[in-house]
Amino acid sequence: MKIYINGKEIYCAEHESLLTVLRRHAHPVNAVCAGMGTCKKCRVRVLNPQFPTKAERDALSDAEIDAGVRLACMTQVFDGMRAESEELEAVHTSARQNAQRTQDAPFAAIADIGTTTVAVGLVDLQSKEIFDSIVQNNAQAPYGADVITRIKNVENDGSAQTRLITAQVSGMLQGLLQKYPSGFNKLLYVSGNTTMLHIFFGVPCASIGVAPYSPVFLESRTASAASLGMNVDASIISLPCVASFIGADITAGVVSLFSESERYTLLVDLGTNAEIVLFNKNKFFASSAAAGPAFEGANIRCGCAAVPGAVCGVKKSENSVIFETIDNAPAVGICGSGLIDIAAFLLEQGSIDATGQLRYDEYKIDGGVAVYPEDIRELQLAKSAVCSVAELLLDKAGIGETEVERLCLSGGFGHYINAENAAFIGLFPKSLAGKAVAVGNTSLAGTALFAADETARARAQRFAANAQVLDLSAGNDFYERFVENMLFLQD
Ligand code: FES
Repeated sequence: MKIYINGKEIYCAEHESLLTVLRRHAHPVNAVCAGMGTCKKCRVRVLNPQFPTKAERDALSDAEIDAGVRLACMTQVFDGMRAESEELEAVHTSARQNAQRTQDAPFAAIADIGTTTVAVGLVDLQSKEIFDSIVQNNAQAPYGADVITRIKNVENDGSAQTRLITAQVSGMLQGLLQKYPSGFNKLLYVSGNTTMLHIFFGVPCASIGVAPYSPVFLESRTASAASLGMNVDASIISLPCVASFIGADITAGVVSLFSESERYTLLVDLGTNAEIVLFNKNKFFASSAAAGPAFEGANIRCGCAAVPGAVCGVKKSENSVIFETIDNAPAVGICGSGLIDIAAFLLEQGSIDATGQLRYDEYKIDGGVAVYPEDIRELQLAKSAVCSVAELLLDKAGIGETEVERLCLSGGFGHYINAENAAFIGLFPKSLAGKAVAVGNTSLAGTALFAADETARARAQRFAANAQVLDLSAGNDFYERFVENMLFLQD
């Protein structure tokens, strides 16, 4: 039978869910819970709707149901169905013309495959600068927002995710190479978390998702782009990973921030999984905690990625409060940095108490965008996990907070984060507030160094081989700290 998605004719089988069809045709629907019916993010509008399912009646308002809004994962296709959604049009793309390329300098390609976003860039091998790059939402979004959900859906769906991500990286790279017809050294360096790299290389990753969480590989891996079905003439080299949940993106982060100093750097990479590394020139301590996808906007009712229109900050003056959005576009949702700022603002004015209770059923931001009590709970879980791991790493290294020279906050929304507000809500130990700096996407920056600099490559290998990984389940007081750090205590 036939259905129409944004006017485009698509053939499908009876009894399929709309999400299954959208996945098969690589439409970038935002299926955070991967079809469990709980996230309510996979909304589409059906122009000729049938009766809603019970799950849809529970999840959507009467007005939404009447307007034809349905959940793609809960709606069965029917002959002649007409569905539409702006989100189904295309992945969001943003391009950055970074540094100037040295004239005719040879260049390498780099890619950072994040769970939420994918960045591809070109790095000048003389200046070691990224001179052009492009960022898109990860095309695997229809298979869930976090790595564990993606792993589960790899089991269910064979190699579909591998095809999606290799095609996406290939397409992004082709787009960049068209602008620079000569000088490419035919090497593509790839970083990403351990799961994303397994999926990219088409390596089974189910073992990462269940105890004892063993990866198939951690070492630097090579393959020809052609062997992965990519339409690019290049060899691929990945950066080494450290553990199942401390991936090559963290190796790249350490490479990009490395300094020959005895004093320590605390790197906090905020994503669906928060990875934290404490290191100086000789020692590396690392751990990760399931922070939940709050920082990626995924488990937040009006949450979204850091796209135009995402509320990304709060600006206060004596008489007014302005909720800032990316590109000053009309508000479409709240991204991670916005959630931190909004929570700090509500905490400061007493609208959130020390236990995290929001005093309103909803706090309206702009248009249909609002914050809800359960959003603050999600943020509490995330900030407590991050802060507790940071404290434990300091203990493991046997150092005090005064020996930390800088606290670097990285991640997809790293550039937007207000470090003062992050400290205020307790995302990290308060004594580090003055040392916090937002460093943006260190994974891409470190991968550029790895591509262009032999010393950086040696550092990456040294970090991967020598990092001491802190196991949160083994004989430490992570859970006691976690409970304590859930509170919003101001001293
Ligand atoms: S509710 Fe449909 S994917 Fe989550």
